[in-house]
Amino acid sequence: MSDTANTPAVDGRLDADIRDLAAVRDPDHSGWTREVFSEPYRESRELIAAKMRAAGLDVSTDGAGNIVGVLHGSRPSAPALVTGSHTDTVSGGGRFDGTVGVLGGIELARRLRESGTRLTRDLVVVDFLGEESNDYGLSCLGSRALAGELTASDLDRRDVDGVRLGDRYAGFGLDPSRALQAGWLRSRKLHAYVELHVEQGPVLETKGIPIGVVTAITGIERLLATFVGRPDHAGARPMNDRRDAMAAAAHAVLDVQRTGCGAPVHGVATTTRLTSSPTSPNVVPGRVQMRAEMRSVDADWLSGARRRLAEDILNHARGEGVDVTFEWSTDNEITETSAAVHDIVARSADENGLPWTPVPSGATHDAVHLARLCPMGMIFVPSLGGRSHCPEEWTDTAEIEAGVQVLTTTVRKLDRLDGVA
Ligand code: HGY
Ligand code: MN
Ligand code: MN
Repeated sequence: MSDTANTPAVDGRLDADIRDLAAVRDPDHSGWTREVFSEPYRESRELIAAKMRAAGLDVSTDGAGNIVGVLHGSRPSAPALVTGSHTDTVSGGGRFDGTVGVLGGIELARRLRESGTRLTRDLVVVDFLGEESNDYGLSCLGSRALAGELTASDLDRRDVDGVRLGDRYAGFGLDPSRALQAGWLRSRKLHAYVELHVEQGPVLETKGIPIGVVTAITGIERLLATFVGRPDHAGARPMNDRRDAMAAAAHAVLDVQRTGCGAPVHGVATTTRLTSSPTSPNVVPGRVQMRAEMRSVDADWLSGARRRLAEDILNHARGEGVDVTFEWSTDNEITETSAAVHDIVARSADENGLPWTPVPSGATHDAVHLARLCPMGMIFVPSLGGRSHCPEEWTDTAEIEAGVQVLTTTVRKLDRLDGVA
């Protein structure tokens, strides 16, 4: 059977999947909210497992808390093909970030079976645990654990309420100690990983191109800056004799924005939260914590920007008589896609008559961690208005179908290769 044998989309099936999953959300939040370890998230995972089983996959939950569906190939000992993504969301998010890759993987399995295609290799479809960034500063919990990058000290991290990450696993019915050994994928060789995802930016829509072949996934540097000034009476303290931590943080917010705007290639910087104390309306804030992040696929810029930003923030804080300390963490390193997988995805788009363009990913993905285990590639489909992480997030079903078709052709091609560089 040809690689592009059009495994006909069953009318409305993908729509129904997206609708079924979109019906599961936290009613107390706007948009779509299924945050990791939440009850809506627990419910959505049960739905995904049921859809995987109905598609003929062998379903299990691995030690890392990932939902794993396997479509067995004719040579189960052969290194496996893996696809998937995540179904957790940010707070007030949308319906397509991550879900397109999980539902697309399930649809791929259905189409292979319906077209009578028996792959040589097992096809593993994964709904990875907790991909979104969280208060623990660790995105991609499930794929990170699979790649052996989740550590015991990570499980001791605490959120703003002082709750340990390991206790959140236990509260969700997962044994955190098993998350540290969840190398089931490490115990078996992997052939390649391909993830279908919405672009979440404006490139494909602006170019009018239906398929993005990802070249690299951005690195992320996270900053927690703590400004310590002096609380004072907001009415009685003269303006020329204050140590206003909020004023220093305000300068820093603009320093972050200026840093991002100064990036010569893909580079962004965002302040995402300010927390001040005391919070009485008539007290000059004595302490402010600022959370920010910087991203780029350009390693030189990212490391230089980190140094320059710290200098700018320090200078402005000094001008306000405020002390500032910095806690930096790397959420993930810049990760290139495999050139071989990139080319196979591009050829698959060509053979399906779908225009494509190379595109960097400003978002991070589970693919970053799977790239530690095998050659990795990603397929993007357009985002309406380049929007994501908001209720307005939208991708037409026809655009998702095109992505599933490219994923299907790519998997067929990869299955036949003895090795992927
Ligand atoms: O933060 C990200 O880029 C992804 O949405 N977790
Ligand atoms: Mn995502
Ligand atoms: Mn996301």
